[in-house]
Amino acid sequence: METEVLRIIEGGLTNDKRKILTYSNKLADRLAKEGNEPLAKCIRQKINTIVPQSQAVADAVRLMPVDVDSHLQVVEIYPPDTIRQPVVLSPEVEKQISDFIEMVNHRSDLELAGINVKKTMLLHGKPGCGKTSIAHYVSEKTGLPLIVARLDGVVSSLLGSTAKNLRRIFDYVQSMPCILFLDEFDAIAKARDDAHELGELKRVINSLLQNIDGMNADSVLIAATNHPEMLDSAVWRRFVQVVEVGLPSEQQISEMIDLFASPFKSDVVSDSQKKKNIIDSIKGLSPSDIKTIFDKVKVKSVIEGKMCLETEELLASIYEVTCKNKSEVSYVMFLSSHGIPQTEISKRTGISLRKVKSYLSEIK
Ligand SMILES: Nc1ncnc2c1ncn2[C@@H]1O[C@H](COP(=O)(O)OP(=O)(O)O)[C@@H](O)[C@H]1O
Ligand SMILES: [Mg+2]
Repeated sequence: METEVLRIIEGGLTNDKRKILTYSNKLADRLAKEGNEPLAKCIRQKINTIVPQSQAVADAVRLMPVDVDSHLQVVEIYPPDTIRQPVVLSPEVEKQISDFIEMVNHRSDLELAGINVKKTMLLHGKPGCGKTSIAHYVSEKTGLPLIVARLDGVVSSLLGSTAKNLRRIFDYVQSMPCILFLDEFDAIAKARDDAHELGELKRVINSLLQNIDGMNADSVLIAATNHPEMLDSAVWRRFVQVVEVGLPSEQQISEMIDLFASPFKSDVVSDSQKKKNIIDSIKGLSPSDIKTIFDKVKVKSVIEGKMCLETEELLASIYEVTCKNKSEVSYVMFLSSHGIPQTEISKRTGISLRKVKSYLSEIK
C-alpha cells in the first residue's frame, strides 16, 4: 500500500494525472483485498465523479507515444492475461527468469527496505528460441501489462528523432505499473552501420542509457536481442539479469514434442523409440522451427479428418524444413535412418520396394 501512496504523491507533484489515477485504482483494489471495502469504495467514487472512466481510457490512449516523424504508434500494449502457450526452458534459464519474477513481485518490499536495485533483464540468443515468449510469460506471472517497443521501428532515419522517440516511450511507461519490453534491442547499435555521424549515434545511445538510469524504482525493463555482440559494455552494465536463451536440449525437445502435439493423439508422444527418432531428426532446430513442423502436420491431419499425428508425416515435414538438397534418394535415406521400415517407405512414397532397397544398398 505504501508504494501506491508514494506513486500518487509523485503523480501529484509532477502533475501526472494518469499516474495518480492508475495508482489510486490500484490502492482501492488493494484496500478491498485487505478487507477495507468502505475506503476502497470511497476512493473509487472519488475517481469516477472527478474523472469519468471513459475519460481515463481516452487519456491513456491519447498519451500513447507516436513516432516523431510518421506519427505512428511506437508501442503496442498487451494485457497480462493474454492466454499463451507455455514456454519450455532449461532449468538454468527457468531459475533466472523465476528469480527475476520474484524480484519484480517484491518490488514494493524492496523499495521500502531501501534496496534500490533496477528491475532490468536482457535476453539474448538465436531467433525463435523464446525471448519474446519469455517477456510475455513474465508479464503474465507479474500481472503487469507488457508495453512492447520494437526498436527497429523506433530507430528513425533521423537519429535526433530516435532520441525523442525513446524519451516518449520511457515517459509513457513511467506513469503506470507495466513492463517495458524493448525488442530487437540491437537496432540502436546497428544504426552505426548506416552513414550516420558517429557522434550523433553516441548521443542516441547516451540518451538510451540516461532513460534506463532515470527509470523509477517501480519500473521494469526487459530487452531482447539476437545480436548481443553488437551491444557495448555500457549497455550490458545496465542489466541486472542477463539471460542466454539457447537451443533446446534433448530433454526440452521431448517436452516440446508433447506440448506441440497436444491436443492431437500421436505415436511420437506415446512410443519412446519413435519419440527418440523424432528428437534425433530435429536436434539443432529452434523451438519456433519445431513448432512450425508440428503445425504443418496438424493442418494436414485436420484437412484429412484424422486428428492424429503420425511419425511418418512428421518426418516428412521435418525433411521439408531441414533438407537443403532434396531428392528421391535422400528422402528414402532420411526416412530409413530415422527408423521407418523399407515396406512403409515404399507404401508412403509410392517408390517400389525394389527401388527403395537399391537406394539403401547404395549407401552401404
Ligand atoms: N522455449 C520455447 N518453448 C515453447 N515454445 C517456444 C519456445 N521458443 C519459441 N517458441 C515458439 O516459437 C515462437 C517464436 O518464438 P519467440 O518467442 O518469438 O522467439 P524469439 O523472440 O527468441 O525470436 C513462439 O511463439 C512459440 O510458439
Ligand atoms: Mg522475438
